[in-house]
Amino acid sequence: MATAAHSHLVSHTPSSLCKSLRYPPNLFSLKSILAIKPTSRTFSLRALLSTTASEPETQKFQHCFTKSDDGFLYCEGLRVQDVVDFVERRPFYLYSKPQITRNVEAYKDALEGLSSIIGYAIKANNNLKILEHLRHLGCGAVLVSGNELKLALHAGFDPTKCIFNGNGKLLEDLVLAAEAGVFVNVDSEFDLENIVAAARIAGKKVNVLLRINPDVDPQVHPYVATGNKNSKFGIRNEKLQWFLDAVKSHPNELKLVGAHCHLGSTITKVDIFRDAAVLMVNYIDEIRAQGFQIDYLNIGGGLGIDYHHTGAILPAPRDLIDTVRELVLSRNLNLIIEPGRSLIANTCCLVNRVTGVKTNGTKNFIVIDGSMAELIRPSLYDAYQHIELVSPPPSDAEVSTFDVVGPVCESADFLGKDRKLPTPSRGAGLVVHDAGAYCMSMASTYNLKMRPPEYWVEDDGSVSKIRHAETFEDHLKFFKDL
Ligand code: LLP
Repeated sequence: MATAAHSHLVSHTPSSLCKSLRYPPNLFSLKSILAIKPTSRTFSLRALLSTTASEPETQKFQHCFTKSDDGFLYCEGLRVQDVVDFVERRPFYLYSKPQITRNVEAYKDALEGLSSIIGYAIKANNNLKILEHLRHLGCGAVLVSGNELKLALHAGFDPTKCIFNGNGKLLEDLVLAAEAGVFVNVDSEFDLENIVAAARIAGKKVNVLLRINPDVDPQVHPYVATGNKNSKFGIRNEKLQWFLDAVKSHPNELKLVGAHCHLGSTITKVDIFRDAAVLMVNYIDEIRAQGFQIDYLNIGGGLGIDYHHTGAILPAPRDLIDTVRELVLSRNLNLIIEPGRSLIANTCCLVNRVTGVKTNGTKNFIVIDGSMAELIRPSLYDAYQHIELVSPPPSDAEVSTFDVVGPVCESADFLGKDRKLPTPSRGAGLVVHDAGAYCMSMASTYNLKMRPPEYWVEDDGSVSKIRHAETFEDHLKFFKDL
């Protein structure tokens, strides 16, 4: 797979790359960046990719953001500093489109030989351009609200590859789901009642999966654990019979097609998925024994990524799929997976500029223009996201331990704590890595920091804007004519 997935990079000749840099499509004010000639970094990256093509999956991975020997951070051969200098506003999100492709290809390769749906969890990142790209690559979508469903349809996702999840789905959203013909996961007794009502209103039978809570500990932060017995999600396994009887008594409204579970997020041990899959296929056996023709096993999302950048070898999509492959084949099932983070997190950085450096008491602070408003994961989950400067610091810059904080009026406003970094100059570029999942989609306008613009590096090395920055005028619109 690496060969195919990386081919957009390895197939560039220097002249085609120059051409694409000089004549980028959809570009608005980045002409100066685009005049940049392919750097030596571009070519060393190409060489690297072509030599790694036949190595095992875990060693093939190349991060799209890499620090080069010249001390600059690059995204797919483009100097991040050059982007910082030319965009309309900082902070901003910068993605690699090729990395999104590579991540999807890794799943597709892993799933070879299985009948499957890759349902991308839209909550991780709902940028329309990214959704269209994922749809184009063959993904389905996992939805948790009526608006996510509308957006998925707008982005052209095939409804028969979409799954509507949630513990509090609203009737009006379920009606939309029934009309569109997406799969719906049954989460509770009242949810089942609402799905039946929606099927009647839409005049369509709904394909449902039972979301069974397998009670497997995902060994993650409690805020992102969902498959344990006290979770608000899914049905308790001892209530399974009640749900089977309820489905049987609504033959005109419901068609049971499968079973679903989702254990949690940031899972770094694939044994956990296997433990759950063993339980799930046993439930499927039990359900089939009652005469239901069910064909789908949905094992949810949740695969973690290397947020720490320590070089630790974490399970790849292939490890995840291999751990459940035999179980799926043994029951002749279609496998649904619902990855969010592992498809999109590592494709992006939040790019900031340093406003200043200060010291209070025993603490050193790097104050940047980005904040918990644009990226809340560190404040909310105490999550670690790797931070580095995008350009070499002055040669006399002292290395110290800093908290990297934003300008928001809260002590919870930090992007990283106790980070060893060279003292940056004012105006230096600083990135927070792995910001593709649950960062922009969880951004707020707290302190009236309007949501940032988003860009991606295209396959041809040019940069395009993929979301406009929100503006102060956008805020005033909510009060117009009141
Ligand atoms: N399927 C279901 C039913 C889910 O609830 C989720 C995520 C996913 C799939 C996708 O999981 P992933 O592959 O992305 O781990 N805001 C938190 C993460 C919350 C995840 C919620 N559910 C964070 O920033 O870490």
